[in-house]
Amino acid sequence: MKIVTDIQELRDQLRGQNRASFVPTMGNLHEGHLSLMRIARQHGDPVIASIFVNRLQFGPHEDFDQYPRTLEADAEKLEKEGVYVLFAPSEKVLYPEPQEYRVDPPKQLGDILEGEFRPGFFKGVCTVVLKLFSCVQPRVAVFGKKDYQQLMIIRQMAHQFALPVEIVAGETIRADDGLALSSRNAYLSEAERTEAPHLQTSLQELRHAVLDTMHHASPMKPLDQSLHELEKKTTDALTQRGWQPDYIAIRKRTDLLAPSNEDLLAKKELVILAAAKLGKTRLIDNLEV
Ligand code: PAF
Repeated sequence: MKIVTDIQELRDQLRGQNRASFVPTMGNLHEGHLSLMRIARQHGDPVIASIFVNRLQFGPHEDFDQYPRTLEADAEKLEKEGVYVLFAPSEKVLYPEPQEYRVDPPKQLGDILEGEFRPGFFKGVCTVVLKLFSCVQPRVAVFGKKDYQQLMIIRQMAHQFALPVEIVAGETIRADDGLALSSRNAYLSEAERTEAPHLQTSLQELRHAVLDTMHHASPMKPLDQSLHELEKKTTDALTQRGWQPDYIAIRKRTDLLAPSNEDLLAKKELVILAAAKLGKTRLIDNLEV
């Protein structure tokens, strides 16, 4: 595997490759990332990975400085997965001058859920992803479903800019106890790590309650109101256990907006999205209904 830090060198290395499959990451790789590399291999050849901790997507009080940087160990893992090139640019290479041209996703998708609690996050993500696509010029790029809203926003960006890149989704990989793998899990204390799978357990219980409510819909009470009550119940239960939930939201899979009573009667597909802090660590997860 070649480790390339320079854009021109990357282009030289990939010249003539028109079936490249790409997995952008911020490093500190775990099984979740490695599963994306395997999906990438099924969709193209060669597989290119990138590691870049993107300052533009971190808020002023977020963990940009603490974000774990483990390039050597990451490179070893990628080599074992048969990755052809690891693109690991420095900030000076990717942002040699202030990045004044940025990609701003539409407010109705970019400013809700994660976008509400992390203002500017998706603008930073879209900007770096577009720039990485421009450097690597892949035919396929793979993103994890754990970052559900990110995946949807990048898909729509690729569609609206007619980028010649197919966006492929990878399922969330979980620890045996159900906790979604994330680089940020490393911030959890031992006690918090024991509690952490409860986020996914809560979502499963909520899904069960949603399905139950839909099956026993009463003409006396609009379904959207019942679903709001279920969201609140889950939020309160997590708060009781010491979590600080940002949102627990039942949304339509197509646009991540809250379903109306008519949407629910028409059986529109749903997804439950959650973000909550445990101590100082913010975890996100989701579950399709
Ligand atoms: O999901 C991530 O790790 C990042 O948001 C991404 C897509 C690599 C952009 O920095």
